[in-house]
Amino acid sequence: MDKNSFFLNILSLLRTFFEQILEIATLLFQWYDKNKRDLPWRITKDPYFIWLSEILLQQTRVAQGLPYYLKFVEHFPTVNDLATAREEDILNLWQGLGYYSRARNLHYTAQVIAFQHKGKFPSNYDDIRALKGIGDYTAAAIASFAFGLPHAVIDGNVNRVISRLFGIEKPINKPAGQAEIRIALEQIFDSSRPALWNQSLMEFGALQCTPKNPNCVNCPLNTKCFAWSFKKVNELPRKEGKTKVTNVFHSYIILKLGSKTFIQKREAGIWKNLYQFPLIDRQMTINEVLSHAIETYGLQGIVNFNSVNEIEHVLSHQKIFAKFYTISLISGSEILKNDIFEIELDDLGKVFPTSVLTLKYLTEQKKHDK
Ligand code: ADE
Repeated sequence: MDKNSFFLNILSLLRTFFEQILEIATLLFQWYDKNKRDLPWRITKDPYFIWLSEILLQQTRVAQGLPYYLKFVEHFPTVNDLATAREEDILNLWQGLGYYSRARNLHYTAQVIAFQHKGKFPSNYDDIRALKGIGDYTAAAIASFAFGLPHAVIDGNVNRVISRLFGIEKPINKPAGQAEIRIALEQIFDSSRPALWNQSLMEFGALQCTPKNPNCVNCPLNTKCFAWSFKKVNELPRKEGKTKVTNVFHSYIILKLGSKTFIQKREAGIWKNLYQFPLIDRQMTINEVLSHAIETYGLQGIVNFNSVNEIEHVLSHQKIFAKFYTISLISGSEILKNDIFEIELDDLGKVFPTSVLTLKYLTEQKKHDK
């Protein structure tokens, strides 16, 4: 081959390559234009609202996260409002969404932005990434949506689309798989329109290239999709060694004095700073519960003792089997407070934020009392 034809071949290869890239972006944007959902965080460039939406949407479906987003924006319209809020008010609004460390980090980071950055959200990737609670995904989302910076997001939806499109067989939850996803993504990322690209690709993963039963027959990218061509759609993406779920047991003691009860604040773990009935975190017999309660709280004047419904609650790494034991006391009974304090029972879950597990119990109890 002479020199000229060699360069012509290279040029032609490069052209095919760029045409493919342009075509994927064009098809994706056309699909997005037709199918996108109208979501409030898509019509703003305010980094505070974008950050809020991204934190709320982590591990959460849009339908579930949307009402929380609207509540947060209404209660805390600026980062200063969020920074100066009481943690309890934030946790109360967060109640039911799970992964409460996100809410605590949100509060902490709002204070950093309000007080250290004088209310101005950092506007470059590294400074955004340095904030607590913001990982690679969220930093890329804020950088692209709010500031138009060329950073491609990689979330569960993007992982799925890219691994199917390119036939990436390595597990996406391992570094080698992630490296391949990143390399493949960089080839088709439209860095001149990062916000549009990121929103389109995530929406495409959420609505079209779904985990189960994706609509491949009507997919605009199917002729370019490795998984569709090689009948591997249901096998990709691959994941390895999913987290093991362990069974744990909770015994809650509900001390009742008329309409009053006693609660404690959790000091650690995923439910840190939420409130709960006094907890012993192991399985116990009824007799053990009763003698433990009498000893710990110096109980006298017990008028009733019963164990109520068992509640099961599944977290990503644990399955909790919880039993709630109610001990009713005559009015005026003195008890040793230790780590607990008295409240109106009705205030748990309202004034005092609590876990979904306890909310489930309270709801069942209300139905039962009717
Ligand atoms: N999930 C996470 N971020 C999202 C966004 N910006 N739009 C829709 N779903 C999302």
